[in-house]
Amino acid sequence: MDANTFVLFGATGDLAKRKIYPALFNLFIDGKLPELFSVIGLGRRAWSDDTFKANIEQSLHSFSRREVKDPEAVKKFLGFFRYHVLDVDRTEDYQSLLQIIEQREQSLSLTPNRLFYLSVGPELFETIASHIQNSGLGDTTGWKRLVIEKPFGRDLQSARDFNEQLAKSFAEEEIFRIDHYLGKPMVQKLEVLQRTNPVIQASWNNRYIANVQITASETVGVEERAGYYDHSGALRDMFQNHMLQLLMMLAGHLPKSDDSEQVRLKKRHVMQSLEPLLPQNVSSQVIRGQYKQGAIQGNPVIGYKDEAGIPQDSQNETFIAAKLQIDDQFWRGIPFYIRTGKRMKEKATRIVIEFKEPIKQTGSTASAHTPNLLVFEISPNEGIYLRLNTEDAAQNQDLTKVLIGTHKSGSEVPEAYENLIYDALRGDSSFFAHWDEVELAWKWVQPIQEAFAANEVPLYEYEAGGFGPQAAHDLLAEDGFEWWFDQEHAEASSAPAQVSRQDKEPSLVK
Ligand code: BG6
Repeated sequence: MDANTFVLFGATGDLAKRKIYPALFNLFIDGKLPELFSVIGLGRRAWSDDTFKANIEQSLHSFSRREVKDPEAVKKFLGFFRYHVLDVDRTEDYQSLLQIIEQREQSLSLTPNRLFYLSVGPELFETIASHIQNSGLGDTTGWKRLVIEKPFGRDLQSARDFNEQLAKSFAEEEIFRIDHYLGKPMVQKLEVLQRTNPVIQASWNNRYIANVQITASETVGVEERAGYYDHSGALRDMFQNHMLQLLMMLAGHLPKSDDSEQVRLKKRHVMQSLEPLLPQNVSSQVIRGQYKQGAIQGNPVIGYKDEAGIPQDSQNETFIAAKLQIDDQFWRGIPFYIRTGKRMKEKATRIVIEFKEPIKQTGSTASAHTPNLLVFEISPNEGIYLRLNTEDAAQNQDLTKVLIGTHKSGSEVPEAYENLIYDALRGDSSFFAHWDEVELAWKWVQPIQEAFAANEVPLYEYEAGGFGPQAAHDLLAEDGFEWWFDQEHAEASSAPAQVSRQDKEPSLVK
């Protein structure tokens, strides 16, 4: 990895504290940071270097996935950091920043490679990017990169305008758009799993697969983000980005090499092959919901409209489910069901592939609904398991299920931000959102945005702590399917826990 300077805008903010410092620390512990490395934290607060470092240390104790117990390691890690006060609108502040960076590059004999990380509100992205260019910060004989967080626009037009602005200061290959779902280890494994497993390659099509279900359910509500969330909703907050990225990673017939350009082309192909949503079909293919009061793990919680900062007449969706179809030779005719919501029963992101059922054709007497399943547990726990049918001699040769799989609990899994920061430092953009993907995703959701804005889609209430509105279940029932692992599948949903005893060596579990 090249020596470089990591320039962090928003260094006193929440994301830096919760995710970025712990991720950098864990990379450091794993020997995944360059020996020659400098971090310049920027913020408006008048902090000294020592105050800055004390705050970083505190954040490691609070948020690092690994216990922070080696004071020498912490000291060496904090040695990378310096703080500089910066008002994003003041040209002079960028000039003094440039001097500091250059001084440090000289004193540490650093090649002038600079990574600018914008951990700030989206309203500041353009201002900062143009100042980086105009102040000379971006004129370097080494490389320069821009890492930005979501949201990338509010709709198709605003995303296009924004991208045009960014393109004045950074080339597409220098822009690393974070979608933290792409940093989740299991999502990154989807590519390797396809590339290296003929079994998966052979079954990845409409000959064998009956439907695909992608769920990201959360138990949290709107938290302290009413101002943002009430104007964003589940569609912009989760669906347009994280959920569609999961779809692309899963459905792209990924290349036989891990070349990032190839991965990008395959993902783009998925988005280009998605059947467009006609305005008149939005209300039959998309379900939206808003949580009302209920209970999460036995604790009563209030409804969305009673949350602080949410207007009583809010029409914002906290849940969305949709049926999508990919019109290509592999997936034609296979429904992809996607759903995401807040205040649901469990925190889980998972993909379930339901295979077609040959059983009825073989004359079995089994009446149970017993398709084979391939399940990817993405987070917080991580696992892959395959559910197969077999026969139980002790029970009259009735069909029974076996599970083959692996399972890791959340604490053993590297944080998405570790993977993403590591890749950005190495210049590998395979797991960042390319502009083409972002643009096509906004284009696809545009009819939904319009139908929601015009109130053409019913807004169903659902009880907090449940599985979303009934209409989301009817969406699958109309096609003869149901969401896997909801309450009616309580028995099956305990499967991942049973697999957990077998970690490295996959084995059979009843
Ligand atoms: C963020 C959304 O991008 O993802 C949040 O803005 C959401 O609303 C979060 O809670 C979910 O991420 P994860 O990794 O906890 O599933």
